[in-house]
Amino acid sequence: MKRICGLQSAVAVALLLMVNGESAAADRLRGRAIAQRWCSECHVVAPGQVRGSDTVPTFAQIGESERFDERSLSTFLATPHHSRMPNLSLTRTEIADLVAYMKSKEP
Ligand code: HEC
Repeated sequence: MKRICGLQSAVAVALLLMVNGESAAADRLRGRAIAQRWCSECHVVAPGQVRGSDTVPTFAQIGESERFDERSLSTFLATPHHSRMPNLSLTRTEIADLVAYMKSKEP
């Protein structure tokens, strides 16, 4: 019985660590999931995407653009703007994840 309790608390600690680790750092894969859900209607967010508008910059182009570094990209996404791009209410974590995804060179 004691051994099982020890195992259970070890599992609990491992889970806690995982949860903490996730919220601490911006997560590229979470960013990709958000992008596919909220941005892919207009932007091509990943290679191979067939739908999307060809008058809207792709995330690959945005990621490579010299106009945007991590910071200006976060600011862009956090502030309302008046362009054809809609204002999306994103949390700071979602923005950090999205920026991590757009700035990573991986699909
Ligand atoms: C309803 C369509 C639509 C959706 C949804 C959308 N965008 Fe956009 N986005 C645009 C358009 C159109 C532009 C070009 C802005 C312009 O020409 O005024 C743009 C521009 C941008 C730019 C600036 C690119 C540049 O070079 O100026 C960024 C960054 C961006 N979008 C990120 C996102 C992210 C991240 C999401 C999802 C959370 C998203 N967009 C969702 C339509 C959309």
